[in-house]
Amino acid sequence: MINPQHHVHSDSCKHSHAEEEQDDSTIVIHNASDFDGMRKAGRLASQLLDYITPFVKAGITTDEINTLCHAWTIERGAVPAPLGYAPYGHIPFPKSVCTSVNHVVCHGIPSDKRLVTGDIINIDVTLIVDGWHGDTSRMFSIGKVPLRAEKLINVTYECLMRAIDIVKPGTTLGDIGHVIQSHAEKSGFSVVRDFCGHGLGRSFHSAPSIVHYGKPGEGIALKEGMFFTIEPMINAGKYNIKMLDDGWTAVTRDRSLSAQFEHTLGVTANGVEIFTA
Ligand code: MF3
Ligand code: CO
Ligand code: CO
Repeated sequence: MINPQHHVHSDSCKHSHAEEEQDDSTIVIHNASDFDGMRKAGRLASQLLDYITPFVKAGITTDEINTLCHAWTIERGAVPAPLGYAPYGHIPFPKSVCTSVNHVVCHGIPSDKRLVTGDIINIDVTLIVDGWHGDTSRMFSIGKVPLRAEKLINVTYECLMRAIDIVKPGTTLGDIGHVIQSHAEKSGFSVVRDFCGHGLGRSFHSAPSIVHYGKPGEGIALKEGMFFTIEPMINAGKYNIKMLDDGWTAVTRDRSLSAQFEHTLGVTANGVEIFTA
């Protein structure tokens, strides 16, 4: 989702403001039956990505991927959350999944564009099952991709999994951001500032905002029963982005490659449950 703090403070201090300005009073704490609901939604979202994987090959269009995902979702009685999604000030998202190719950072709109060998693509799906949202995305390589693209994908995945590894009650949002930022930057890559992970559950996007950069110990502390995503967007070049005129597609300003992985998580008494594993 859009990083609200980053956009409000469009000056040079945007980074350190992000966590400080959140308080945890609006974060929903969920119970055991809510965990059951998220398990079902998360599992189905993950299964959708498994289903689409063999189709993600040179020659398919991103709209054909969308059509296959939409039909699979509907057949299972679930709802594709992106379709018609229109948070305040946005035009409704016109498709059921996001497909972000090469230098597209996130929220790419499926189109008649055909995938070709060497492309990298993120497919981001969010399914609503019995009112609960499961939100997950993965990267796919089309045939043999450049070594740098492969490295970007691997590092982005490691960023997500290292962040998940530290999730438990008491971990702060700054701890999460720091793990991601330090791993990305030591690999020569950059962390996108304009979009962040988000609370979810019965709603698609809610508090807290999970920014993917930060300092250890800063920001609010996690509590058992919080549900949120971690979804780092890592660029091969600079972190700056540009919005296209369609109102949704974000691209890297320097047209460098961008990668992203996303999981939906629940904080447990001792650690974390990955609903979209
Ligand atoms: N799934 C995206 C996320 O991770 C949100 C997509 S909103 C859409 O938050 F409208 F672009 F689909
Ligand atoms: Co998300
Ligand atoms: Co998503």
